[in-house]
Amino acid sequence: MHVDVCFTPNQFDETQFRDKVVVVIDVLRASTSIATALHNGAREIIPVTTVESAVKISGNLVGDAVLLGGERNGKTIEGFHLGNSPREYCEEKVKGKSIIFSSTNGSQAIVKAHYARDLVVCGFVNVGVVADFLGKSGSDCIIVCAGDDGMFSMEDSVCAGLLIRRLSRAEGVKVGHSDAALAAVALHKSFGKGTLKMIQNSEHGKYLIGIGFGDDCAICARVDSVPVLPQLVGNVIKVKTAAEKKEHAAAPITAS
Ligand code: MLT
Repeated sequence: MHVDVCFTPNQFDETQFRDKVVVVIDVLRASTSIATALHNGAREIIPVTTVESAVKISGNLVGDAVLLGGERNGKTIEGFHLGNSPREYCEEKVKGKSIIFSSTNGSQAIVKAHYARDLVVCGFVNVGVVADFLGKSGSDCIIVCAGDDGMFSMEDSVCAGLLIRRLSRAEGVKVGHSDAALAAVALHKSFGKGTLKMIQNSEHGKYLIGIGFGDDCAICARVDSVPVLPQLVGNVIKVKTAAEKKEHAAAPITAS
């Protein structure tokens, strides 16, 4: 299987990935919060690009089973129930809830890549589960790093490298690397030994520490601590049920 990496979402067009398996990585912190929420029993995450559309969608959904979550400049959006700290996505708050989620980079990258045949969300916390999924699918894949305002970010790229290395070690999987994939692997070899330090020294890590979210760096650095596979199903991210997995496996691939 061929593996490629986009180091920023600016490197691809919305429709480019229609027949591809795409992995979106936003280590700090969208991927980590999404994985944590689903692991703690959230029903689904609805990723949206703007605060306005989040509020509009929440108005169409009734009841207290809906929460608004996300951030701008790392901080909770006014009127939202949850920010973007994975610590907030605990079982008591999110179990059984639909969470409309808007973050600066993570949800933008997910929405931009949503035409993918399969889209999964990855951080250090669930990298093993994602590698397992990719290995079993055997399909070529593109890893999209959410980056930071359209720019490269170290923690996403190092995580991409770890994902590729895990995949290469999986039994029966033969990985063909693009130049970008080789670069991501090289970054992980250089910086992956001290994941927390690398995160704390990254631009966004330093920013989060500066605004009082230093503890989140440690949570986001914990490899394989949240073993869950967040997958886009229609317009929502969820953990697929066994029936949905079966249905997907049986569906014929149609040209369009
Ligand atoms: C994002 O999507 O840009 C991040 O998750 C920002 C953050 O750290 O909250």
